[in-house]
Amino acid sequence: MIALGCDHGGYDLMQEVMKHLTERGIEYKNFGVEENRSVDYPVYAKKVAHAVASKECEKGILICGTGIGISIAANKVHGIRCALCHDVFSAEATRQHNDANILAMGGRVVGPGLALMIVDKFLDTPFSNDERHLRRIDMIES
Ligand code: RB5
Repeated sequence: MIALGCDHGGYDLMQEVMKHLTERGIEYKNFGVEENRSVDYPVYAKKVAHAVASKECEKGILICGTGIGISIAANKVHGIRCALCHDVFSAEATRQHNDANILAMGGRVVGPGLALMIVDKFLDTPFSNDERHLRRIDMIES
């Protein structure tokens, strides 16, 4: 189950992400925002971050205008490693190296074509489980 959250800056792109996940048969839970109105991104960042940190959802996707504010807010929740990615290489590397559990993107930064490639790479790439990466992740958490 993938937790989804966005503000008004990410609303349009999130519609594309939801359509794409449905087409791929991937289940998601949408934590809002449910309509395109001006809202405060930390509210949705925290909802998704808590759903992932509690293991209610296995991963999350957050979208605001830049992806910056919503990723900063999500990363305040213990156990969350939210990666802001606007390229496919970073999406792959952050899964392999950081075991990132939330992907953040900016709806005013990337178009839907690239964004969906980033989503796929993020969801489909396993963590490497390399000792050095596990050690570094432990150092983040403590
Ligand atoms: C909203 O206008 C915008 O500030 C927000 O979507 C995001 O870009 C913040 O980082």
